[in-house]
Amino acid sequence: MATPYSKGLEGVVAAETKMSFIDGEKGILEYVGIPIGQLAEHSTFEETVFLLWNSRLPKKGELADFTATIRGLYDLPEQIEAMLTRLPKDAQPMHAMRTLVSALGLIDPKPNATDVPTVRQKAVKILACVPTMLAYFHRHRQGLPLIRPDASLSIAENFLYMLNGAKPTPTMARAMDVCLILHTDHGLNNSTFSARVVISTLSDIYSAMTAAVGSLRGPLHGGANEGVMVMLNEIPTVDGAEAYILDKLARKDKIMGFGHRVYKSYDPRATHLKVLAKQLAQDTGNMDLYEKSSRIEKTMAEAVAAKGIYPNVDFYSATTYHCIGLPLDLFTPMFVIARVGGWAAHIIEQLSDNRLFRPDVDYTGPHAVNYTPIDSR
Ligand code: CMC
Repeated sequence: MATPYSKGLEGVVAAETKMSFIDGEKGILEYVGIPIGQLAEHSTFEETVFLLWNSRLPKKGELADFTATIRGLYDLPEQIEAMLTRLPKDAQPMHAMRTLVSALGLIDPKPNATDVPTVRQKAVKILACVPTMLAYFHRHRQGLPLIRPDASLSIAENFLYMLNGAKPTPTMARAMDVCLILHTDHGLNNSTFSARVVISTLSDIYSAMTAAVGSLRGPLHGGANEGVMVMLNEIPTVDGAEAYILDKLARKDKIMGFGHRVYKSYDPRATHLKVLAKQLAQDTGNMDLYEKSSRIEKTMAEAVAAKGIYPNVDFYSATTYHCIGLPLDLFTPMFVIARVGGWAAHIIEQLSDNRLFRPDVDYTGPHAVNYTPIDSR
């Protein structure tokens, strides 16, 4: 039986999940029941992915095994590296990521397998390779030699090492790790939904992940973090922030990094990123960015908080990533590194109890129209 049309599927429950729980009114996000704040404080990205993939925290030995497996797969397959180093240097990193994730399917001898144990193996490989792809592409486009992965490092440390050619400080590595944890999963967000829709046809993990990367790129979704940085760069001074925002609101422009379909209160991920952004801004001499962000937040609170529009995950991510040293166009690909963990978890969950996604559509066109021969039109 058809349910009433809901534009953008707002309020429609389209799947069941055991992974993330969101209470948008109270500003709660939990992964498998654990509040996101506790994970940001105590966990690691690798442990968080294990949690999502297994619905429980790992024991010491399990985490060591899982981590070792991931680290053993950091190196890109030869064919992928060869393809990567032929990509146009002026390609946008998100387009490169989409192509490279898809390309992994070309060299998999059994790309179409959809049994859960095999899909899990493929998921680990994708999780391990994506940071290498991004770091390599960034170096390739700058004409710099590739820095091989270091299997003694965590995903966060290794990514920054391959990107910059120097091991990150413990503070930077931890900041990166916390960002990954906060971005790993988030209910039936657009890219996760895209991945679940594709895999529900019993297609393959590469197709599902490729669709998800494409979805994430959009400025209404993961692309918003880059939009925030563009905005911060456009605002000349801290004192100029208020007028800039009010002018945009008067023109009915959306302010990037604000608003959310589910959260009608403060996004709990933004709470943590705000603290992180402030600390890193102080450490790296970027307090002007943090202060501009605070002024934007204050202006938005006065202008639109009554409508339930608050900072979302992308708002303070921008300052955080800038302070970590990431160039602007790596902000959204950085989100990919994290969200691969969530996408894979949802792909596995969908396959474990699959039913094809095939919603209805309300037809709003004419009926019983006579065909007009081409010469009479
Ligand atoms: N700036 C100004 N006004 C806004 C904003 C914003 N960022 N977000 C929503 N509104 C207003 C909107 O103009 C509308 O007002 P009115 O009812 O007067 O016409 C009302 O709030 C409802 O907006 P909507 O676009 O119908 O809400 P939605 O649930 O479809 O959109 C959203 C959610 C995230 C797409 C939207 O808030 C937005 O475009 N935000 C900016 C982009 C952004 O930061 N995206 C990242 C989302 S969080 C991370 C992720 O998912 O990747």
